[in-house]
Amino acid sequence: MTDTLTIRRPDDWHVHLRDGDIMRGVVPYTARQFGRAIVMPNLSPPVTSVEAGAAYRDRILAAVPDSIDFVPLMTAYLTDASKGDELARGFREGVFTAAKLYPAHATTGSAHGVTDVANIMPALEHMAAIGMPLLIHGEVTDHDVDIFDREAVFIERTLSGLVRELPELKIVFEHITTADAVAFVDGSGPNVGATITPQHLHINRNAMFAGGIRPHAYCLPVAKREKHRLALRDAATSGSAKYFLGTDSAPHATSAKESACGCAGIFNAPYALESYVTVFDEEGALDKFEAFASENGPRFYGLPLNEGTVTLERAVVSVPKTIDANGTSIVPFHAADEISWRLVG
Ligand code: DOR
Ligand code: ZN
Repeated sequence: MTDTLTIRRPDDWHVHLRDGDIMRGVVPYTARQFGRAIVMPNLSPPVTSVEAGAAYRDRILAAVPDSIDFVPLMTAYLTDASKGDELARGFREGVFTAAKLYPAHATTGSAHGVTDVANIMPALEHMAAIGMPLLIHGEVTDHDVDIFDREAVFIERTLSGLVRELPELKIVFEHITTADAVAFVDGSGPNVGATITPQHLHINRNAMFAGGIRPHAYCLPVAKREKHRLALRDAATSGSAKYFLGTDSAPHATSAKESACGCAGIFNAPYALESYVTVFDEEGALDKFEAFASENGPRFYGLPLNEGTVTLERAVVSVPKTIDANGTSIVPFHAADEISWRLVG
């Protein structure tokens, strides 16, 4: 039995680091585990200009502990008014690595998102021409569509047409949650990849209702039926280069989660690698973990692989009930539970 695993230093291809005091509290968790991270732009106001992206990057860098090398990769938030020229300038200047498409009102901080992909087609054509990846929150926002079907319907109504129209555009289908998304990604060309979160590998929708309402198991896209979780575990551990690590760690104060209208988002940054590797271990696929965590992402983005390594060992880790993020109490994923792997360093 493999009891220790040393892999090339991994990256997180989808994370929310927030801003201000909470940011200073959560950045060290991500920086301790990952060489780089794709940082989501859904701040208030969102990061839409090159200057805002550069300033946010500086604030994140100032929160990274001195002893750690960590590179935040910034993203532009697409709105109906996004212009290809501004995105291209950010990409050329090395500020923006990618741009994020939130359908308007799909999730937290998406009120300024895109109301119709047709409105940003010129910008997307420009991105395709310069090789700038598009990152997609893939859910329709139509309230007549059942919340558990919104990802599958997005594929039908929006994503398949977009991929057909712009096959040269690199697209990351973010935080996929369904067998439908796996089938779509598998059936698409090499320009379509996907991130998978630890929570969608561990929990199905029952976790939100286990003995009562469980706000800390609620994120968007919401966890689906067991058959979908199993399809995601197969995809992540398959060895396919199309799938890579993206935690979607989304910290919210405990009080904002435990509320009559609790926020969507699961804070998984403190034990992200431990959480993922447990899944690969359970699936008998530890040999596939390095590709998923450290190789497929940078290859998709056209970036160099990290130097250096991290080591995980089989050991029981008790996850605390809450974590203090610079004065804000946040309940982490796996709170008050045990994981069977530990990050050694
Ligand atoms: O659960 C989520 N939380 N899903 C998202 O898409 C956004 C995120 C957040 O920013 O809190
Ligand atoms: Zn996200």
